[in-house]
Amino acid sequence: MKILVIGGGGREHAVVKALKKSKKCGHIWCLPGNGGIAADAECVPVKATDLEGIAAFAKEKRPDFAVVTPDDPLCMGLVDRLEELGVPCFGPRANAAIIEGSKVFSKELMKKYGIPTAESRVFTEASEALAYLKTHSYPAVVKADGLALGKGALIVDSYEEAEKAVRGMMVEKVFGESGSRVLVEEFLTGPEVSVLSFTDGETVVPMVSSMDHKRAKTGDEGLNTGGMGTVAPNPYYTEEIAARCMREIFLPTVNAMKEEGRPFRGCLYFGLMLTKDGPKVIEYNCRFGDPETQVVLPLLESDLLEIMQACRNGTLAKTEVKFSAGAACCVVLASDGYPQKYDTGYEITLPETGEGEDIFVAGAKLENGKLLTAGGRVLGATATAPTLKEAVERAYALAEKIGFENAYKRADIGARALKALEG
Ligand code: AMP
Ligand code: GLY
Repeated sequence: MKILVIGGGGREHAVVKALKKSKKCGHIWCLPGNGGIAADAECVPVKATDLEGIAAFAKEKRPDFAVVTPDDPLCMGLVDRLEELGVPCFGPRANAAIIEGSKVFSKELMKKYGIPTAESRVFTEASEALAYLKTHSYPAVVKADGLALGKGALIVDSYEEAEKAVRGMMVEKVFGESGSRVLVEEFLTGPEVSVLSFTDGETVVPMVSSMDHKRAKTGDEGLNTGGMGTVAPNPYYTEEIAARCMREIFLPTVNAMKEEGRPFRGCLYFGLMLTKDGPKVIEYNCRFGDPETQVVLPLLESDLLEIMQACRNGTLAKTEVKFSAGAACCVVLASDGYPQKYDTGYEITLPETGEGEDIFVAGAKLENGKLLTAGGRVLGATATAPTLKEAVERAYALAEKIGFENAYKRADIGARALKALEG
């Protein structure tokens, strides 16, 4: 089968590498891909948000299947567009991708169907949000309704900070129209768990759980980033909690979307917080997480392409989805300064990888045969092993072998998970 993958980050590199293991997988195009993905797929410089460009490409090349992973094209309706052209897709249609595209939508869905989440209120006027925040307890959480590159949720410790956040979102419009509506949310505490799941709109099959490390610096210091590293499985996510999540969150969400006439097919990502009152939803994503995918897919033992086709065709209940009993760790190497200012254009030297090791390239370009840094998060070094401790050690050993001039990595990916395992 000829496959079209849309996107160009570390997550897409992990998807491409997993698809290549499928016996049915033939040629892969990745649009736009990147300099590292080019080693595994034919990269074509068409942006993931260029729906017209992608549609024209699909008409000409006639792929047998398409995998759409980034949030923007999903929310813009790329799956609807490709399906109209007769290309079967993995990924939700726009009317289901809204579960990530609008936090107001997802909050109302959870309220209507009794799915546990933080208490919150929606505001369309800055003055009303501010009046409410005057009486709110702190910390509180202020969130922009729409997509904001993962930066739309601000934890504020005082009314002054809350005022700054609301003015930024609603008056100065730092996130554009995404901030036309804001949510003011109760601050929850507890370990965070990411659970990606496959769903065909009826059946939901959770993948192995994972833990992201969102802050830029070692010790959970610094600004929030897209994610500086991940481990899987997440030790806080016990079998008992998993069963409860299935009952109270996963199935109710998939059923709610079906009930609303918005069946969700693809990867539904549950961002959960394990509070003392039980697991609650912090956020839904309509796609694979990045860098969660870089630890989850290397542990998948079943055929990813078959699973993706089953999600599209409504046959997931009859399809094998099996994960290895081992563990994985991904250490991200970023350009020093990320997520703020950083320099790019440095040459990257990649070592040979052994069994159970992978380098997923996120921000790099090929120039005259050389791989050069071209983004904030440059790549992720992933290793799998029978235990989490070994996986973390192997991932760091692999990361140590990768060189570029201004490389920065956190020194403590997996440390919290290992501590939790020790009890
Ligand atoms: P979001 O953009 O909704 O994914 O939020 C980004 C991050 O902010 C989450 O991963 C949490 O760490 C934190 N966060 C979001 N909502 C809450 C909340 N209600 N209470 C505590 N932390 C939160
Ligand atoms: N790593 C979090 C996300 O992909 O949204």
